[in-house]
Amino acid sequence: MSQTAGNFSQRVLDWYDQHGRKHLPWQQNITPYRVWISEIMLQQTQVKTVIPYFETFMEQFPDVHALASAPVDDVLHLWSGLGYYSRARNLHKAACQVVECFHGEFPQTVEQLSELPGIGRSTAGAIASISMGIRAPILDGNVKRVLARHHAIEGWPGQSAVANKLWDIAEHHTPDKRLPQYTQAMMDLGAMICTRTRPTCHLCPLQESCMAHAIGDTSAYPGKKPKKTLPERQVRMLMVVNHVGEVLLHKRPSQGIWGGLWSFPELRTDDSLDETAEAIAGTELYGIEAWTPFRHTFSHYHLDITPVKAFTAMETKTIQPVDSTCWVSIDNPGKLGLAAPVTKLLRKLAHSL
Ligand code: ADE
Ligand code: SF4
Repeated sequence: MSQTAGNFSQRVLDWYDQHGRKHLPWQQNITPYRVWISEIMLQQTQVKTVIPYFETFMEQFPDVHALASAPVDDVLHLWSGLGYYSRARNLHKAACQVVECFHGEFPQTVEQLSELPGIGRSTAGAIASISMGIRAPILDGNVKRVLARHHAIEGWPGQSAVANKLWDIAEHHTPDKRLPQYTQAMMDLGAMICTRTRPTCHLCPLQESCMAHAIGDTSAYPGKKPKKTLPERQVRMLMVVNHVGEVLLHKRPSQGIWGGLWSFPELRTDDSLDETAEAIAGTELYGIEAWTPFRHTFSHYHLDITPVKAFTAMETKTIQPVDSTCWVSIDNPGKLGLAAPVTKLLRKLAHSL
């Protein structure tokens, strides 16, 4: 153990002795079984919600044999309200394996523990360190946050390269002694001091060596999940204006974006502007003018819209309004359901005339 590692864990342990949690139900009568059950319950659920469930669970299934021999439906019934029911199914499966493969004794290595259903590397580390005193690091959400900040680790921990770095750091800081206290201390530090928003750095035992604190940007760590880059599509919207200040709208098909709403006729961007515009409008156009494109973003793609203004000299009545086509007053489009960008474009169009 290096000097810095010793110093880190010593400060964490000193803090734990003064401020850490020591009276949670699963911290009494510590056994691998009790720690295991508590860690699984605590994976997606808050401490104060877990406490009564944990007490009931221990009354009904006091040891791994009781759990393994119970019908899985009894376990699921007890679990109702906690959510994430695969946790309960995995508990039951793992209990059966502990009974069948290990004679009811939990295996004493992180590797073997993490082969049991529902037990990942961090949960295995927590069970091994808290209930067996084995020198094993943990890296749950709280600990990821503390370590990513303390070492200013860039990137999203969901990426394995980032997670691997954090595991190395967690391993490096893990002391040789007082493993149960150290593991609990790291969880408590993340839950009580190095909180997701507004960590209380002035109360933190790691403040003097914390890089995120030194930089003054704790919110930058851990890095956020990168946003998916959405595909981009292009479309031109044709705004045909007649001599009485009306514009041509089309009703969109009921399927697809803006289904059933009224919008401008669309031109594909690869067609020649003049010809297709006239083909769509069904009339001769003049003063054709493309505007600067703007972006409308849907959940699954970006739509870059180029508005195209054009005029027709024809009488309105020569372009017959049909079911899916109509002329509306630019200033006062009435009560039609309009596609999102159309309202905005009608306003700009009115200003441009
Ligand atoms: N969350 C996960 N494990 C925990 C523990 N042992 N104590 C408090 N919160 C936790
Ligand atoms: Fe977290 Fe602040 Fe402590 Fe750094 S100093 S570990 S940011 S609480």
